[in-house]
Amino acid sequence: MKVFKGVVTTLPPDKSISHRAALIGALAKGTTEITNFSGGYDNQSTLEVLQACGIRLRQELDTLPGGGTVRRVCMESDGFWSLSCPAAPLMCNNSGSTMRMMAGILAAQPFESVLVGDESLMKRPMRRIQDPLTLMGADVSLSPTNTAPVTIRGTRELKPVTYELPVPSAQVKSLVAFAALHADGESRVIESLPSRNHTELMLGLHTEELPDGRRAVIVPGRQEIAARPFYVPGDPSAACFLIALGLLVKGSEIVLKDVCLNPTRAGYIALLLDAGAAIMFENERTVGGEAIGDIIVSWTDSIQPIRISDKRVVADIIDEIPMLAVFSACATGEFELHHAEELRTKESDRISAVVANLEQCGFRCEEYPDGFRVVARASQPSGSVKIECFHDHRIAMSFAIAAEALDMDMALSDAEVIGVSFPNFFDLIRGLEA
Ligand code: S3P
Repeated sequence: MKVFKGVVTTLPPDKSISHRAALIGALAKGTTEITNFSGGYDNQSTLEVLQACGIRLRQELDTLPGGGTVRRVCMESDGFWSLSCPAAPLMCNNSGSTMRMMAGILAAQPFESVLVGDESLMKRPMRRIQDPLTLMGADVSLSPTNTAPVTIRGTRELKPVTYELPVPSAQVKSLVAFAALHADGESRVIESLPSRNHTELMLGLHTEELPDGRRAVIVPGRQEIAARPFYVPGDPSAACFLIALGLLVKGSEIVLKDVCLNPTRAGYIALLLDAGAAIMFENERTVGGEAIGDIIVSWTDSIQPIRISDKRVVADIIDEIPMLAVFSACATGEFELHHAEELRTKESDRISAVVANLEQCGFRCEEYPDGFRVVARASQPSGSVKIECFHDHRIAMSFAIAAEALDMDMALSDAEVIGVSFPNFFDLIRGLEA
């Protein structure tokens, strides 16, 4: 049986913060330097889209004294309205964040642009971006099924809005904020369930708690943003796979250095701790407004099943649910989730994808419109099990970890999709094998 031990200093840089640093860099006047930008395909898509809109940028890999590299991005902009009309449709590949947040910036440009993506992204819902941008005065059209291609006829005369998010979505909150930065007056974006707050932190936006518990993000219009350097900490949504590995495989102990511990991203760690997981923190500090620290995780043999039925919790852990479900199933044979219908609109339908693959691994599950339950491990399949990843990086990584935890031979249908967010995933795991 394998054991995983060691210190990880090369966790992928956070995907959400990398996207935002690049987009803010395109709107800020001057030179923006981003240290530890992610090399994942999704973040590279954002840079390619910005370059296609005329933003000048370069990437460099700095070699670290102890080995490994850090990616640095430098970009130049003259501030708002520095983008130029792209010559062709803007290809966002698999990246919903690129498409949705970029739409907010394109809505304020005085030209027509078209956003397209890969097969998975072309199926994802885009009404949620069309509605607020239309209210602000942009002309946005979608396919007959309300998906991409997203055609945006932008305007320099965007109107400020007060907009309440119909779904808890940090992408939509951010796209409205990016558009509102260009508007002629103050806008307010209201969320009833809190979602990740990197855009607010990175732009220094004020927020207001409303008496009924909702939260308003206040966006002043047309106030020049001065370029500033950004540092991108390690991605907690990538860390979760290595945390699960360390907890599940007997005798393992893994240290993850410099992970983003922003409370709007660390909800899954609280759930793991409640389930009895041995997780500790060290070197906790704040860098550029973001909480970061080291995570120490050790194999734990008495985990309790995870059950999630609180909407507020779901919004906090949306990207980690596949791993949490697989983790709880492997550790205890049980898991339960409700109020998570949003999972069906991610890179794949993550409810069906997790259920189908857990069943392949011998678990008995029940699927609901808004979640699922893992009832028990009914059988232990022999031989190699085929895992269908549905071209979804988080499904592929969750089951790669399950293969180690259950000591099963699993054939992942398209493991290369992991490069979307975690290009060094298998190298890191091999490096931890004691
Ligand atoms: C993200 C927000 C979430 C998340 C995605 C990244 C972001 O999507 O699932 O991986 O960086 O804002 P939604 O906004 O659709 O919930």
